[in-house]
Amino acid sequence: MTKINTICCIGAGYVGGPTMAVIAQKCPEIKVVVVDINAERIAAWQTDDLPIYEPGLLEVVKEARGRNLFFSTDIDAAIEEAQMIFMSVNTPTKTYGLGKGRAADLKFVELSARRIAEVSKTDKIVVEKSTLPVRTAESIKTILSEYKNGVKFQVLSNPEFLAEGTAVNDLHYPDRVLIGGDQTPGGLEAIEALTDIYAHWVPREKIIQTRLWSSELSKLTANAFLAQRISSINSISALCEVTGADVDEVAYAIGTDSRIGPKFLKASVGFGGSCFQKDILNLVYLSEYFGLPEVAAYWDQVIIMNDYQKKRFARNIIHSLFNTVSGKKIALLGWAFKKDTNDTRESAAIYVADDLLSDLAEVSVYDPQVPASAMYADLNYLQTRPAAENKEMLKVHSDAYEACKDAHAIAIITEWDEFKTLDWQKIFDNMKKPAFLFDGRNILDHKQLKNMGFKIKAIGKGED
Ligand code: UDX
Ligand code: ADP
Repeated sequence: MTKINTICCIGAGYVGGPTMAVIAQKCPEIKVVVVDINAERIAAWQTDDLPIYEPGLLEVVKEARGRNLFFSTDIDAAIEEAQMIFMSVNTPTKTYGLGKGRAADLKFVELSARRIAEVSKTDKIVVEKSTLPVRTAESIKTILSEYKNGVKFQVLSNPEFLAEGTAVNDLHYPDRVLIGGDQTPGGLEAIEALTDIYAHWVPREKIIQTRLWSSELSKLTANAFLAQRISSINSISALCEVTGADVDEVAYAIGTDSRIGPKFLKASVGFGGSCFQKDILNLVYLSEYFGLPEVAAYWDQVIIMNDYQKKRFARNIIHSLFNTVSGKKIALLGWAFKKDTNDTRESAAIYVADDLLSDLAEVSVYDPQVPASAMYADLNYLQTRPAAENKEMLKVHSDAYEACKDAHAIAIITEWDEFKTLDWQKIFDNMKKPAFLFDGRNILDHKQLKNMGFKIKAIGKGED
């Protein structure tokens, strides 16, 4: 059986970086080279100021970097040397042409596959690590087989289940590792080679081997089910607000049923992140493509509910502030799509801020990890108004107290722990009155804040 001693990973992002760092940490005899076209990103991986914020990651990187973990922009050399190549490039939703807004844009995957095909002189196992639509492996295989030169490729699907903010722990102690491959002797041998790598630290019974397409579809299905739980509880949050029920009590009550379980039932301003929406859109696109409109509509509703939740939150702010926020300062605490990450992809903050700006609010933001440049880039991407206007109307602060000073309202968007321990009395004293606080994450002690004088509106909490 092939014993792997050299790995290359194309793409040094949120998936490729942490995954390879852990593989290198746990398999000191394997040389792992992570490559990227983005030279700035590669340079940052070589410093202690890593390009992504992920608790515990620096320690892992430091342990392996220079020993058997390397970061490089020399993509061809790394491909040529490796026996196994992970593809961890980004696969955003298409913003143009056929399948716009739904299908995954596979141009980065295709480019990487072509590069592998052109450069390879020895047999290789190619591992799909990015989130990809079902049957992408087939396209990769087709591209690779065109070039041949006697070189043999095996394509595996090994979807990533790590969640940002807890990536290192998720990689160290995964619920399962999924490896899909062709059920041919060559395919099975490749599956075993990858299984051997994970078996360095993951119990074998947690390593699930499947056919290629089952693995690809399982990744989309897992994310669709998780996102569906959030949309389900968020739909109930709207009902709670009008009936006077409390969504956290409802979530606790239903979560104690072991068939339902307590996780992923936290009502919020809406889910974000690079995977949930993209993967569901992929499922919708696939279902439509295969002539299953009812299946497509079923999953589409999870996205519709999420969009509704974000809109509802912004609308609630405007309504509560006497139907106008024009010229009023609204402070957003948090911009990242969840705590403990600097990733902002599809964050609810972007949409809430955009709606408030469209109602001519002055928005001020504080996030402990997200730089101002990322916030402006997110807003400009929506193209609702000229970039210059975004710059003028949205102010970014490096201090929560400054962001909230003289504000008419504060909205908690991200559940950063540090927001719980702010001096809320000081914040209240420096705000315009009545001082509104919209808790999009239900992380604060509402009773205490109410006693201070705040007018609290929280997700899924009816009026007392
Ligand atoms: C997700 C999957 O969890 C992971 O397995 C997959 O590999 C990639 O996609 P990630 O997007 O990093 O991971 O974060 P996750 O923790 O799943 O949160 C996604 C969004 O849902 C966040 O915006 C989060 O705030 C929100 N969320 C999560 C809720 O609103 N309520 C919850 O109960 C849980
Ligand atoms: P993910 O969350 O899926 O890891 P990221 O955007 O964080 O997504 O990372 C993907 C990385 O892949 C980016 O750093 C990007 O520069 C890199 N990338 C995209 N296309 C290529 C390519 N053809 N060759 C090398 N790297 C690439």
